[in-house]
Amino acid sequence: MTRKLFVTTALPYANAAFHIGHMMEYIQADIWVRFQRMQADGGKQREVHFVCADDTHGTPIMIAAEKEGITPQEFVAKIAAGRQQYLDGFHIAFDNWYSTDSPENVELSQGIYRKLRDAGLIVTKTVDRFFDPVKGMFLADRNIKGECPKCGAKDQYGDNCEVCGAAYQPTELVNPFSVFTGSTPILKPSEQYFFALSDPRCYTFLKEWLNTPGRLQSEMVNKVSEWLGEAGEKLADWDISRDAPYFGIPIPDAPGKFFYVWLDAPVGYLASLKNYCSKNGMDFDALLNDPATEQVHFIGKDIVSFHLLFWPAMLNFAQHPIIDKLKVNVHGHLTVNNEKMSKSRGTGISPLRYLDLKMNPEWLRYYIAFKLNAKVEDLDFNGEDFVARVNSDLIGKYVNIASRCAGFIAKKFDGKLAATLSPQAQQWISRALTNDGAERQASIAHHFEHREFGKALREIMEIADITNQYVDENKPWILAKDDSKIAELHDVCTAALILFRQLTILLSPVLPQVAARVSEFLNDDSISWADTTGDAVYRTMLGRTIGAYSHLMTRVDAKMVDALFDRPAAPAIAAPAAAPAAALAPAAPAVRDPGVEELAPEIKIDDFTKVDLRIAKIVNCEHVDGSDKLLRLTLDVGEGRLRNVFSGIKSAYKPEELVGKLTVMVANLAPRKMKFGVSEGMVLCASGDDEKVNPGLYLLEPWPGAQPGMRIS
Ligand code: 2FM
Ligand code: ZN
Repeated sequence: MTRKLFVTTALPYANAAFHIGHMMEYIQADIWVRFQRMQADGGKQREVHFVCADDTHGTPIMIAAEKEGITPQEFVAKIAAGRQQYLDGFHIAFDNWYSTDSPENVELSQGIYRKLRDAGLIVTKTVDRFFDPVKGMFLADRNIKGECPKCGAKDQYGDNCEVCGAAYQPTELVNPFSVFTGSTPILKPSEQYFFALSDPRCYTFLKEWLNTPGRLQSEMVNKVSEWLGEAGEKLADWDISRDAPYFGIPIPDAPGKFFYVWLDAPVGYLASLKNYCSKNGMDFDALLNDPATEQVHFIGKDIVSFHLLFWPAMLNFAQHPIIDKLKVNVHGHLTVNNEKMSKSRGTGISPLRYLDLKMNPEWLRYYIAFKLNAKVEDLDFNGEDFVARVNSDLIGKYVNIASRCAGFIAKKFDGKLAATLSPQAQQWISRALTNDGAERQASIAHHFEHREFGKALREIMEIADITNQYVDENKPWILAKDDSKIAELHDVCTAALILFRQLTILLSPVLPQVAARVSEFLNDDSISWADTTGDAVYRTMLGRTIGAYSHLMTRVDAKMVDALFDRPAAPAIAAPAAAPAAALAPAAPAVRDPGVEELAPEIKIDDFTKVDLRIAKIVNCEHVDGSDKLLRLTLDVGEGRLRNVFSGIKSAYKPEELVGKLTVMVANLAPRKMKFGVSEGMVLCASGDDEKVNPGLYLLEPWPGAQPGMRIS
C-alpha cells in the first residue's frame, strides 16, 4: 500500500508576523515532507499533502482589528499577505496556506459539533462570567487586571501574578478592572456549551488511543496519561463556547454563541486540506477515508493538551475516519544560548533580519536539522556553534569535495566523467556507502522517517569524511601536475563526484536549493532516493558530461551572526543630546561600570525644574503602520484630555504589555511633528551606553500608589 500523508504544522495566530520559533517548526516539518516525497512504496511514489493556515479567530484579533479601525477579516488578510516572504525565504514548501476563517472551516467545525451533540457529548451549564458593562462584552481572564490577591502587586492579569507567580481565579483579584475600558467588571450568568470530556467514554477512548504503540513519543504518553488520572477523574468538561461579540464561528442552534477559537483551530487543518483538494480536483472525503492516509501533525510542546486530549476525542466521537491514522509529533522550544528568547535582552532572532543580512537559509535549515531529534527537547541556537557547525560540515566537508575535484574534470577532460572506475575507486565508494549503499540508505531513511535528523546528518557526514579522506590520500592537485597520472586524476575526481552526488541526494530534504543547483551542475535531473543504492550509484554518472561548477555555498561570517540578534533600538524621541566632551563635569567618576554612559554636564535645580515630568497612564498602545521602531501611546496625564506620543520602544515591548501601566513622561516638551502625526511629549526609558554590555530598553514605571498627573520632583 502506498502511503498517503497529510502533514501539517500548528496554525499560527494571525495577529503577528512569524518569529524564529515558527521557522524552526516549519523547517522540521518541511524536511520530513521533502524526505517523504522522495520515497516510494512498492515502486509507487508516496503522496504527500502539506498544508497550513492562519489561526484567525478569538478576542485578541478582534480587539487588535478594532484598535486599527478595520474589520477582523481585513486584519487577518493583512497578516496573511506577509506570510509568503518567510516561507519562500526559508524554502518551506506548503502545498496550501489557508485560513480558519473560511467556509470550509465553518462547515467542518459545525459538522463535527453536530456529531458530538448527537453522541450526547455536548452539555450546557450556566456559569458566572466577568462582563465589561461599558464595552458590553464578556471578558477572558487575560482581559481583566487587578491587584494580586497573594502579594498585592498591582496590574496583574486575571489568571496569574507575574510578580509572585501565584495562580488564581479572576474573581480573587483585588480592585479588578477591564483592560479595555478600565471599568469594574461585573459577574453575569451566561449559558455555556461544554464538550463533556468527563464522560467515561472519553477516558476509555483516550486511554486506548494514547497507549497504541508507535503513535506518540513516550514522554507525551506519560504526560498526557497523568492528565487523565487513574480512571479519568481528572478530565473536566471543556468550555467550547464564547459569547458575542466574538470573532469566530457561530454554534449551530445557539444564537449569540460562538465556538471558542481552540475548537475550530484544529479543524482548520482539515479545512485547508479540503480547500487544497477542491483547487486540485481531488476528492477530500475519499482521501480521508482511504486506509492508506495518515494525518501527521507537527506541534510545539505548549499546545499538547489541545492536540492530545481534545482533538483526538473530537475526531473520534465525530466518527472521523482519520482517527486511527492520527500521529502528533511534539517538539521543544527554540532557545538562544539556553535561555528563552527575549527581545529586551537582545536575544531574539528575526527571520526577516536573517534574510535581509543575506544569510543563507540553508545554513539555518542544516543547523536546525543537525540539532533535532525525536524527543520533546528544547533546541538551542548558539551563535558560535552555528558558525562552527555550518562551516565545518557544509563548507569544510560537503562543498569542499566538489570544489576540489570539479575544476579538473572541466579543465582536463572537457567536463566528461570517466566511463569506468578503477577497483580502488570502487572500493572507496563501497567503503563510504558501506557496500552497495543499501545499508546506509536504510539507516539514513530510518532516521529521517523517525525525525532523528541529527543522527541522519551525522551518518551523512561520515560519508563526507571518507570521501575527503579519499581525496586527501590521492591528491588530485598533485596528480594534475603529472601527465602520466591523467587517468588516475580522472578516476579519483569521478569517484569523488559520484560520492558528492550521493551526499547531495541524501542531504536534499535539508538543502533543497543546493540540491537543485547540484543537479544543474551535474547535468542530472534525476536526484532521486532510489539512486543511493546498487548500480544506480554509478550508472547515471559514468561517462556523463557535467556542467561548469560554480561555488555552491559561502562560509558563515561570525559578524553576520552578531548582527542577527534583535538589539532593542534607541528611543525615536531621544534623550537630550550628549554633551561635548570638553563640557564634562569634573566630578564624573574616573572608572565607570562597563556600558554606563558618561554623565552630562552639571545643571542647577532651576534647569531641572524647567522639565515638567509627570506620571502618565498608558490608556492605549498600538503599532504604527509603516514604522518598525515606533509605538503610538495614548497617555492620560490627568489633564482632562489624552496625549498622543510616539516612542521608539517597539523592539522592547508589545502594545498589549503596556496598556494600563503607569510611566513617566516629559509633559512640557514642545509638540513635534513626525511622519506619522504629532508627538505631544516623550516617555522616559533607561538604556545602556553600549548595547552589547547593557542590552535592552526599559520604560520607567513608578511605585504603586502614584496617580496620573502627579509631578515628579
Ligand atoms: O498556539 C498557537 O499558535 C495556535 N494558533 C496553534 C493552533 S494549532 C491548530 F490547532 F490550529
Ligand atoms: Zn502576586
